[in-house]
Amino acid sequence: MTAIKALKGRRVWDSRGHPTVEVDVTLENGIKGRAIAPAGASRGTREAIDLRDGGHALKGKGVDAALANINGSIATTLVGLDAMDQMGIDARLVDLDPSPLKDTLGGNATVATSLAVLHAAAANARKPLWRHVADSFGYAPSIPLPEIQIFGGGAHAGRRVDIQDFMIMVPGASSFDEVMEVTNEVYFAAGDIMASRGNLAGVADEGGWWPVFRSNEEALETLVAAIEKAGETPGDRVVISLDVAASEFGQDGVYKLTLEDRNLESGALIDLLGGWIDAYPIVSIEDPLGEDDADGMIEFTRRFGHQVQIIGDDYLVTNAGLIRAAVEDYACNCALIKVNQVGTVSEALSAYAAAREAGWTAVVSARSGETEDTSISHLSVGLGAGQLKVGSFQRSERMVKWNECLRIQDDPGSGDFAAGEPLAGTWWGRRHQA
Ligand code: PGA
Ligand code: ZN
Repeated sequence: MTAIKALKGRRVWDSRGHPTVEVDVTLENGIKGRAIAPAGASRGTREAIDLRDGGHALKGKGVDAALANINGSIATTLVGLDAMDQMGIDARLVDLDPSPLKDTLGGNATVATSLAVLHAAAANARKPLWRHVADSFGYAPSIPLPEIQIFGGGAHAGRRVDIQDFMIMVPGASSFDEVMEVTNEVYFAAGDIMASRGNLAGVADEGGWWPVFRSNEEALETLVAAIEKAGETPGDRVVISLDVAASEFGQDGVYKLTLEDRNLESGALIDLLGGWIDAYPIVSIEDPLGEDDADGMIEFTRRFGHQVQIIGDDYLVTNAGLIRAAVEDYACNCALIKVNQVGTVSEALSAYAAAREAGWTAVVSARSGETEDTSISHLSVGLGAGQLKVGSFQRSERMVKWNECLRIQDDPGSGDFAAGEPLAGTWWGRRHQA
């Protein structure tokens, strides 16, 4: 047993310039752990809420109340408890705030606390975080296959296009380094194409190029052109991944494509995306339908689940119960894992375990509001999750996560690069791994 001696919350600032919560945990032997809460912009309605102060100052995003909870009831409860008992610590956080969305303590307060304890425990065990996670929770580590954004959109780019993330994956690479190299080529080829059209207008929230397009499909066509300009054959070593984030533009089964000035019913959106799956080398689609459109998710997965990875983000919100229900319904076949959606490490691990038990794939993911915190790089390796989604290939709150993976892979025992293995159940896997 190594007791927690002190816990301190402080206000720091995220990649969008908004305040967020950092927690320092100090153990009785002086060893420390630290973590920072990230923040989403296209949030699911069933995810843990970030406690914000409201009012005019700081755009209402102040975190004084969340910090008061950390430095008050959370510190009082956790000091003296064993930092090596992550499940026990997280259970006390849940006891303190049993509300489904953690609206008493704030998910931002609980996630920074829970992750800071995990960091302190790893340091106390004299292990890098990835190793501590693998050993404590019984997973075989591996270096993840990245999903990397080339164009931003949706809520991350002033809704300039409806689709949120136009990404690439490089399942045909033989190393993480090779993924970085290929991504560099594709990312800058895309920038060159935008510049040659006079459409280079900076970057969106996660570092992808700002989406100056006349239609959503033009973004897809441009992504294919960028892959080709980088000297690659689309669908070969490099494939496309989309996060539709459909909850952001659809409700009650009606989807409003603002850019194209048309409304689609659920079935029409499924047909549109199906057409894209046929026409473009798309291997993974996240939140193709809205979080309230279970029938649409089930129909989409019935039609395309054998061809592409279908990820639930807003639909599952890293919630083990919702994942089990979606397994039962066959409403997706992959879970996005964002610790702050559920608010503690243990609850995120339960969600991950539920996905794995079902034979699903999983993607550990950042939020659109991020910081220098690299916990998710370690989690993706330590859980052997196989995939990591961090945003684009620019801006340090993104690059720090890719760079951390490069460091971790030099650690002995951090496992092999997952490469195309997580995509074995898709058309790409059947074509390339037979
Ligand atoms: P968010 O978006 O962090 O803004 O919620 C990320 C995602 O949808 O995957
Ligand atoms: Zn998403």
